[in-house]
Amino acid sequence: MSSRILVVEDEDIMRITVVDHLHRQNWQVDEATNGVDALAMVRKNRYDLILSDIRMPGIDGETLLSEVKQLTPRTEVILMTAHGNTEGAVSCLKKGAADYILKPFDLDDLSFRIQRLLDIQEIKARCVSLENCCGQRQPIIGSSAPMQRLLNLISQVTQTDSTVLIQGESGTGKELVAAAIHYESRRADKPYIRINCAAIPTGLLESELFGHEKGAFTGAEKTSIGKFELADQGTILLDEIGDMPLGLQVKLLRVLQEHEIERVGAQKTIKVDVRVLCSTAKNLEEEVRQGKFREDLYYRLQVIPIVVPPLRDRKADITELTEHFLNNFGSERGLTFSLSEDTVQALSDYPFPGNVRELKNILERVSVLAPAPQIQLWDLPIELRSQKEDTDSSKAVKLAVAVADAEQQCIRNALKTTAGNKTEAAELLGISRKNLWEKMKLYAL
Ligand SMILES: Nc1ncnc2c1ncn2[C@@H]1O[C@H](COP(=O)(O)OP(=O)(O)OP(=O)(O)O)[C@@H](O)[C@H]1O
Ligand SMILES: [Mg+2]
Repeated sequence: MSSRILVVEDEDIMRITVVDHLHRQNWQVDEATNGVDALAMVRKNRYDLILSDIRMPGIDGETLLSEVKQLTPRTEVILMTAHGNTEGAVSCLKKGAADYILKPFDLDDLSFRIQRLLDIQEIKARCVSLENCCGQRQPIIGSSAPMQRLLNLISQVTQTDSTVLIQGESGTGKELVAAAIHYESRRADKPYIRINCAAIPTGLLESELFGHEKGAFTGAEKTSIGKFELADQGTILLDEIGDMPLGLQVKLLRVLQEHEIERVGAQKTIKVDVRVLCSTAKNLEEEVRQGKFREDLYYRLQVIPIVVPPLRDRKADITELTEHFLNNFGSERGLTFSLSEDTVQALSDYPFPGNVRELKNILERVSVLAPAPQIQLWDLPIELRSQKEDTDSSKAVKLAVAVADAEQQCIRNALKTTAGNKTEAAELLGISRKNLWEKMKLYAL
C-alpha cells in the first residue's frame, strides 16, 4: 500500500507544484486549501503524513498540528513557512511537528525528507509488531487428519479479512493458530497485536483497547493510544474474548460494524482498519445462553469459526510433538534426548487434559530434570507414571520430580476444597493468586 499524504496550502501555484511532484513519487496525495477543510479530511481519512503551510486563514498550521496530534498521533506533520525564524521552528517541533522547512525549498529535498519520515514510521510499526509477537511465530506441528483439516482452514481464512473466532480447550494452540493467520495474510508485514481480555482488570480494558484522552479518568496523565490504533492496517487478537465484560461487548460490536473507535474521554471517532481475530477456551454458545455474552456479538464474531481439537482427539500427533519439543529443549542444552519404550507408551496413553501446553511443559521439566539423555518412565510426572509403573516404591526418583508431584497434588487438593475458587485456594496454599495461576498453567491444571 502506498503512503497517503495530505498537502495543505492556500497559495494555488505552490500547492499544485508540490502535489504534482509528490504524485510523481508514487504517493497517494490529497490536497486542501485551508486548515478547516484539512481537519475535516483528517477526520475522514487516515494520513501517514501531512505537509502544511503555517500561515493560513481560519485554522493555521500550528493549530492544525495540535489537532492532528490529538486525532491521529502517528500521522507525521511537516510545517512549511516563508516567514521562518528559529523560535518558530523550535515551537513547532515542541508541539510535535516532525520537520520544519523554509520556503522556497528544493522539491527533491522535500521528497527526501518525506521518504525518511515514512521509513521511520514503518520501522516503528514493525517494532511494535515485533515486541508484541516475539516468540509467537512458531511452527504448528501435527499431521493427523484433524490437524490437516485445521491447517487447510487456516490457509483459506488467510485470503480474507473476515473476523475469525478460534475456539478450543486451554493449551490446544489457539494463539499459534491466530499468529499463523496473521503472518500468512496480506497484513503480515503490518502490526500484529494481542490483548488478553482476561488478564486486564475490567476497569482498564476499555482504555487498553481504545486508548484514552489526557484527564479522561483519575491517573490518565497523558493521552494514550489503544491496541486497536496500534494494530491499524494489521491484525488484533482479542484473546479470552469470553471474559470481556458485557458493557464493553456493545462497544466492540460497534467497532466491528463501523470500523471506528472512540478513545475513552474523547468526543471524536478515529477510523481504524484492523482485522479482528478472537479466541476463547469458554463455550461461547453456553455463555450466550447464560446471558454472559451478547448474542449479536457472538454471531458477528463467528463469521468464520475455527475449532482447535483437543490433543486426545489427535493422538497421532503426540509423537511428532514430543520429538519437536525434545529437539528444541535438547538443542538449548546441547543434548539429544531419546525415550524408552514404556515412556513413549505412557505418553500416548495419557489423555492430556491440558493439551499441547501440558505435553510441552512436561517435556521441558523432564529435559531439565532427567539424569540421562535416555528418558525413562520414572522421569515422567506422577500422573503419567501411575497408569504404567509397577508399584516398586523404592525406585529412585529425582527429588525435584517428587517435589513437583507433591506441589501439584497440594494445588489439586486446594482447588477441590475451594470448589475451584482460585483466590481462596491461593490463600489456603499461602501463595499469591498470580503464583497459583502460573503453577496451574505449568501443571496444566
Ligand atoms: N500444534 C502445535 N505445535 C507446536 N506447539 C504447539 C502446538 N499447539 C500448541 N503448542 C504450544 O503449546 C503452548 C500452548 O499453546 P497456546 O498458547 O497457543 O494455547 P491456547 O489454546 O491459546 O491456550 P489457552 O486457552 O490456555 O490460552 C504454546 O507454548 C504453544 O507454542
Ligand atoms: Mg491462549
